[in-house]
Amino acid sequence: MARLGGVGRAARALHLAQPTVSTQLRELATALDTTLFVPAGRGLRLTDEGALLLEAAREMLDAWRHYEERAAQARGLLRGRLRVAAVTTAEYFVPELIGPFAHAHPGLAVELVVENRDAVVRRLEQGEDELAVMMLPPAGLPLERWPFMENPLVVVAAAGHPLARRRTPIEPRALLAQPLLAREAGSGTRLALERFLAEQGLAWPARMALGSNEAIKHAVAAGLGLGVLSRHALGRDPGRDGIAELKVRGFPIHRRWHLVWRRDRPLGRPAAAFLEHLRERLRPPPA
Ligand code: PGA
Repeated sequence: MARLGGVGRAARALHLAQPTVSTQLRELATALDTTLFVPAGRGLRLTDEGALLLEAAREMLDAWRHYEERAAQARGLLRGRLRVAAVTTAEYFVPELIGPFAHAHPGLAVELVVENRDAVVRRLEQGEDELAVMMLPPAGLPLERWPFMENPLVVVAAAGHPLARRRTPIEPRALLAQPLLAREAGSGTRLALERFLAEQGLAWPARMALGSNEAIKHAVAAGLGLGVLSRHALGRDPGRDGIAELKVRGFPIHRRWHLVWRRDRPLGRPAAAFLEHLRERLRPPPA
């Protein structure tokens, strides 16, 4: 409840009815003879004691995870859980990275959480995932980062758009006459585009904000405007989806995918083994 910001959300995550979760929280507070949270606005706020309990619960879960890992290690197996968070644009290739590793370790429970950049940053802040895949690691957190792959950001239009027939590069300024379909605020793709435009002294106001790469692809194909997406989100045959990559001066915007993890927390064995597995197989792009 504290992590997800509400009883309703916690109930959905646990596949339980909301009253069941409310009752359990009440029973927990009664058993501990304290108040764990108080109403605040339309939601709930943790009391100081609630915050202490949350911290203790996290420590207990961490201790349990370490026990499971060490016990499995003693038996010579890689067990426990590997949880990786990935920004939405990375969902197009991260499963392929995880697949062979998961296959080699059938005793490992693997979970891939896919969220936009802001949500992944929040999860890293709270130490919810040991590893995350993202393009723009945040500056304010103690993170190790390993850039492992290029992430070119490209401009796309409907396949039949007049700009799609241009052979010579389009000037970025010429794009400003076109409506831009951007990702939602909080998306790393959008942030990278905003930074690029700011560097060029340009402003290209978003006409419509869409909450996923797929929504942008559909809207672009329907002729609603231009979009800027990772080339990874386009798939192998963008033409079949009715979209075309435009030749624009300054594009692709060159960004890289990073694997990041907290420097101030030890990596569990599954996460450390997965990192080693990737380091043996991937050749990072030059800086
Ligand atoms: P996003 O991903 O646009 O889905 O947030 C890009 C990134 O942050 O790397």
